[in-house]
Amino acid sequence: MIFLLQHFAINLLSVFSADTFNEVSHFMGTFWVIQYLMQPVLIFGVIFHFVMGFVLEIKNNKARNISYAKNNGAANSTWMSRNMIWSGAAILAFMGLHFYDFWFPEINTKYIVGDMSGQLANGEFRYFEELQHKFVDLWRVVLYVIAFVFLALHLLHGFSSAFQSVGANNKYTKGLKGFGKAYAIIIPLGFIFIALFHHLNH
Ligand code: HEM
Repeated sequence: MIFLLQHFAINLLSVFSADTFNEVSHFMGTFWVIQYLMQPVLIFGVIFHFVMGFVLEIKNNKARNISYAKNNGAANSTWMSRNMIWSGAAILAFMGLHFYDFWFPEINTKYIVGDMSGQLANGEFRYFEELQHKFVDLWRVVLYVIAFVFLALHLLHGFSSAFQSVGANNKYTKGLKGFGKAYAIIIPLGFIFIALFHHLNH
């Protein structure tokens, strides 16, 4: 959730100033703390999160096989909470496309080709142009927007349940839940805005 906040903030820059987006992207893309400390932690966190998600889902299904006489799921849980595995799977599918679109080319350019300059042949930074180019294809924009809707559904339950999981049940819980709901709607909506903005302005 902290990553999504910074990722949203940096990508939102691309809507307001190509130069600022290029400067910040180059800094984040070459600063050793981000590249060699934060990025490995992030990627490990993403992998650990979805593997544990699947493991727990399989465990819960096994435990649930003692089917309740009459299970009125809706009575005691939200659609979002009962379908975290599906919204999670949709986000994972998005990550596959997203890594193909942005991260693998980034890793290839910097660590396989070995070009840390971030520059095109004309000496300009490449980040804004590469991002805009990706949102020319309507099919990609549609897939991204669908994925961001699932991201909202996943966060709508995930945010508050994350604090519940760590036992943060105190006088701030109500406020946290409210903040969580706002976060779960504003951040994915913001990503939808960025994708549509670049598609409509390329
Ligand atoms: C319009 C929306 C988005 C845009 C324009 C965007 C853009 C980018 C770009 C340019 C990179 C390469 C950055 C680099 O490695 O230097 C990247 C990487 C990445 N993106 Fe996104 N992204 C968007 C939404 C998302 C969302 C919603 C998620 C998570 C659910 C996400 C997760 C990641 C991850 C994990 C990486 C690899 C780590 C990193 O390099 O920071 N992105 N994205």
